[in-house]
Amino acid sequence: MVIHVMESKEIASDLAANKIAQQLERKKNTVLGLATGSTPQLLYRNLIAKYQTNQISFQDVIAINLDEYVGLDGSHPQSYRYFMDTELFNHVDIKKENTHVPNGMAEDLDEECKRFNELIKSYDYPDIQVLGVGQNGHIGFNEPNDRMFVHTHVEPLTENTIKVNGRFFEDKNEMPRTAISLGMKNILCAKHIILLAFGKEKADAVAMLEDDRFSTACPVSLLKLHRNVDVIVDREAASKLQHA
Ligand code: GLP
Repeated sequence: MVIHVMESKEIASDLAANKIAQQLERKKNTVLGLATGSTPQLLYRNLIAKYQTNQISFQDVIAINLDEYVGLDGSHPQSYRYFMDTELFNHVDIKKENTHVPNGMAEDLDEECKRFNELIKSYDYPDIQVLGVGQNGHIGFNEPNDRMFVHTHVEPLTENTIKVNGRFFEDKNEMPRTAISLGMKNILCAKHIILLAFGKEKADAVAMLEDDRFSTACPVSLLKLHRNVDVIVDREAASKLQHA
C-alpha cells in the first residue's frame, strides 16, 4: 500500500485520472470498478475532459459499480445508477450495455446478488477498482461489523451511514436502510485499487491505514491485505497520519 498525500483534492484527482488513463492506454477493454459519492466526482470530470480532448476512449471499457441502494430505481436522483449516468457515462463513449450497476429494484434480491457476483467474476474482476471511504471506514457498503460478507450481498446500513448519506435526500424517510454491495473478496480481487479520501471527516479512517494491523471494525483497513493499493488523499484526510 502506498499512501500519496497531495496538496489538494484537485491534484489528488489528477493523479488518479492519470493512472486510469495509462491503464486505458495499455488495455482498451479495461474493466473499471467504479464508486459513487462526492469523492470521485472530480476524478470523473477529469476523465470526461481527457475523453473530450481525445486522450482516452471508453469504447471497449467495461464498468462495474460497487453498490446500489435497495428500493431506488435508476431514475431516482440518489440512485447510484443515476449518479453514474449523469456524472460519467452520459459524457463519454462507453457503451451503455457495458455499464453494470446492481439492480436495487430486483424482485429477488438474492438472485440479483448472485447475478452480480457471477458478472464481476466473469470479467475476472476489475483491472482498476476506484474506492472512496465512508466516515466510519466502510468501503462499497461493507459496514464495520464483527463478521463481514465475502461476496455480493444485501447489507443493512448503519445508523451512521443512514445519517451521513441521508443528507442528500430531500425527504429523509426516502433514505434506504439496505443496499446491494460487492463483498470484501470481490473488492480484494481487483488487480489494482485506487482509494481516494478527501476532507477532515475521513482523517480517522485514513489514520487506520498506517500501522500493520487490520480490523473489521474499520473495513478500509482490510485493503492492507491487497498487494497493489494506491491511497490518494488530500492534506485534511492525511491530518491524523503520524508519518505524513
Ligand atoms: C457511499 C458509498 C461509498 C462511498 C461513500 C463515501 O456510502 N457506498 O462507496 O465511498 O459513500 O461518500 P463520499 O465520497 O460522498 O464521502
